Amino acid sequence: MQIFDNHGRPISYLRLAVTDRCNLRCFYCMPEEGVQFLPKPHLLTFEEMLRMAGILAELGITKIRITGGEPFVRRDLMHFLGKLVDISGVQEVSITTNGVLTKPHLKELKELGIRKINLSLDTLDRERFHEMTRRDELPKVLDTFYALLENDFKLKVNAVVMAGKNDQDILPLAALSKENEVSVRFIEEMPFNGSGINKEAFMSHTRILNALRTEYPEIQKVQDELHSTSSNYRIPDFKGLVGVIAAFSRTFCGSCNRIRVTPMGLLKTCLYDDGVLNLRDLLRGEPDDERVKAELLEVFQKRPKDGFEAEKKRSSLVSESMTTIGG
Ligand code: GTP
Ligand code: 5AD
Ligand code: SF4
Repeated sequence: MQIFDNHGRPISYLRLAVTDRCNLRCFYCMPEEGVQFLPKPHLLTFEEMLRMAGILAELGITKIRITGGEPFVRRDLMHFLGKLVDISGVQEVSITTNGVLTKPHLKELKELGIRKINLSLDTLDRERFHEMTRRDELPKVLDTFYALLENDFKLKVNAVVMAGKNDQDILPLAALSKENEVSVRFIEEMPFNGSGINKEAFMSHTRILNALRTEYPEIQKVQDELHSTSSNYRIPDFKGLVGVIAAFSRTFCGSCNRIRVTPMGLLKTCLYDDGVLNLRDLLRGEPDDERVKAELLEVFQKRPKDGFEAEKKRSSLVSESMTTIGG
């Protein structure tokens, strides 16, 4: 079965945030202090997530990306992943991680058939990393980066780029794709930072691309995967790719196949909406999977056509921390 939304787009990709906690404090994602993490009973349990994933798989979800917060800070994640990959219909499970705690799990991830990892890494400079994430963890992240490559994971690096903060890192990060089979993707900053203030540091995908073009005028567009968030390029003679993600300009909504479930079990049919269904309470109160399905089908027919429409319909301005959404 494949469900299509009210704009004819297939819904096939679930982004599941398994925790709102994180071991870093990236300034574009959350404030340094005073973050209120959710009490445990408010979170979806792994059992609830597995039930939900089974129901969604029956509706046509084939790809599940685990996000957070930082997924590896949630206890028993590996055990959960072992069960998730076995759900009928789920063809691909992938993870977006900051890489601090990831390396020890690579062997087991590989055994589970989890091969695609997206690593968040905004700079290769240790001091700037410390400044941006408020933690001095660059060495561990780099260790994970090289271990992922050695173990043949399909690796993408995600770098949020902000003018005057880390735009000098664009070229060094892009250079990672010279000798390594990695896609380095530069992301526009979005106002999901816990305060919503739109900083002057915004750097558009066009500006990011111009910075790449200035250094590498021969850069060539490559064919993007279907439903890709990134627009990708090859620098001649580089083994990997570079890409830009217009996360704030929202250029890829027309092919959006994504839904999200937050750590609290709130379903979002667009990153920019403020939640369309409380799945946690529905799952807790409704033993019949078919009824849960019916509610899902209803909200899938009311998806906004793009992130701008979703934002307009919100009851409050975008300001929540990315850690409560999962990106
Ligand atoms: P692949 O599965 O490898 O294509 O990765 P992905 O781009 O779907 O996921 P990832 O977790 O690596 O996200 C990279 C960046 O894209 C993050 O900043 C996300 O917040 C952003 N992003 C992912 N999905 C969406 C989306 O649906 N809309 C918008 N606006 N941004 C998104
Ligand atoms: N704007 C853009 N991307 C963000 N991410 C986290 N916060 C933001 C933000 N405010 C990215 C992370 C991670 C991905 C899931 O989302 O760097 O790679
Ligand atoms: Fe999909 Fe909304 Fe992101 Fe556009 S902004 S790609 S509709 S989630």
